[in-house]
Amino acid sequence: MTTTGDRTSEQPVLTNRQGHPVYDNQNQRTVGSRGPATLENYQFLEKISHFDRERIPERVVHARGTTAFGHFEATGTWGDEPIERYTRAKLFSEAGKKSDLAIRFSTVAGGRDSSEVARDPRGFAVKFYTEDGNWDLVGNNLAVFFIRDAIKFPDFIHSQKPDPVDFERQVANRVFDFISQTPEAMHMVTLVFGPRGIPASYREMQGFGVNTYKWVNAQGETKLVKYHWIPQQGVKSYTAEDAAAVQATDLGSHTRDLYDAIKAGNYPKWDLFVQMMDDHDHPELDFDPLDDTKVWDENRFPLGKVGTMTLTGVPQDFFAESEQIAFGTGVLVDGLDFSDDKMLVGRTFSYSDTQRYRVGPNYLQLPVNSPKGARVATNQRDGQMTYVVDRPEGVNPTVNYEPSTIGGLREDVYPTHDVQGPEISGRLTRKRIERTNDYLQAGQRYQLSEQWEKDELVANLTGALGTCDRHIAERMVWHLLMCDDELGNRVGEGIGITADDVRHLEPLRTQTLTEDELDRARNLG
Ligand code: HEM
Repeated sequence: MTTTGDRTSEQPVLTNRQGHPVYDNQNQRTVGSRGPATLENYQFLEKISHFDRERIPERVVHARGTTAFGHFEATGTWGDEPIERYTRAKLFSEAGKKSDLAIRFSTVAGGRDSSEVARDPRGFAVKFYTEDGNWDLVGNNLAVFFIRDAIKFPDFIHSQKPDPVDFERQVANRVFDFISQTPEAMHMVTLVFGPRGIPASYREMQGFGVNTYKWVNAQGETKLVKYHWIPQQGVKSYTAEDAAAVQATDLGSHTRDLYDAIKAGNYPKWDLFVQMMDDHDHPELDFDPLDDTKVWDENRFPLGKVGTMTLTGVPQDFFAESEQIAFGTGVLVDGLDFSDDKMLVGRTFSYSDTQRYRVGPNYLQLPVNSPKGARVATNQRDGQMTYVVDRPEGVNPTVNYEPSTIGGLREDVYPTHDVQGPEISGRLTRKRIERTNDYLQAGQRYQLSEQWEKDELVANLTGALGTCDRHIAERMVWHLLMCDDELGNRVGEGIGITADDVRHLEPLRTQTLTEDELDRARNLG
């Protein structure tokens, strides 16, 4: 007996991908009702073999994420000044100019289905679909990062990922084993283990470009810049206790909060601000402007507003628009440029490399990744899953190379200058930057925190370090004392380690301490 359940004749008919109607989606074709299946059973084979290939590798980092859509509206100024003084990027050029955008928020370490209230930085990746092509600003919700050279990234991430033997997650011993040998991470530790390590929602967190970029004006003059997104909703964080209560019943609270707000017309907004420095190495500063473990003092390098982002849309399909969206730091438009920040350079290789593997070599042909306001015309052809031939009308279709005298595409002329920025010279080497200054800003962050934030940081570090091997915890207390006496003493007290216990420790082989820092090391606590 067959039944039709609730299906009505108004429902569209199911087909296979060849456009053939499906008459029976419940039974394979077999020889008799109990008999063997037949191999020419195309409908069944198409269905099951597509299913077998449904998963693509999840992102190696930032696997858990959520996408939304909206627009950016420029002020046409940097603060009160005309923006063309600093950048010729068209998306910023006029007051009221709008560019569509996609954003993906994420956590970093967990898998695709993991908790959204984990203690972790949050990804804050924005793709602007501008008239000059796409610009991706791939940032985080915290202003600095754990490491300053991209060569360390795979090791750092391995330490954050599950143990490779038993796959246990977030083993503090692994995390702090690495960090205790990487003092440049101390500034980020004061953020991630404080309240900012768990935002209360994606709507109520800041975003930062973190790395140092450049702006270029029509005269080819460059500035070093850092990007800041400030939420109009305000900033709100969870304590460890708040987060534990949420994730006891709900792993997807941040996505729901964001989508509920957008669907209710309560559109979240962030203002985009830019900090600027002249384009050189600034020997007068106690840090290097290309070091992503440092913030720039806002009194000395003020924030200038350049526009506002409003999120108004949610995806129609999670896989197409969130799983397959692909951001990268190499995706810049004219008027925006890279700095020599060693993290940024490494990141710029990594993103498109992983996306060619994760999504496929033609990932830029997918609608969510391809430019919207700008034309695409390349001589790139073929490869798995080629979807379009990006050749404009009127171009000789046989010419898929350049230069050519018989049609095809031609090079553009530079809009203004193709020479820009200061001259760079040096000998090839493998050296860390000179002004490491790993502890000062971490200590200042602690000193400037409110009392409850200090207490949270101390409690979270005490909890985590209390589970670590003694020698790892001792080294961490040494670093914390180097940042701030009170911070080191309070955490040490919580786990039974005093300044006297760690004073004998020598600086790490990988560190060069200044005279001041050596003095501090001798007088810890
Ligand atoms: C995602 C590499 C540092 C922000 C990723 C992915 C890789 C990667 C391979 C997965 C991309 C994909 O599968 O589509 C690196 C390397 C880094 C680095 C090698 C250091 C050298 C950073 C820093 C930030 C950051 C400092 C923040 C400023 C992000 C974000 C995503 C991401 C937001 C998720 C993008 C999305 O939503 O699809 N990173 N990353 N990464 N990274 Fe990084």
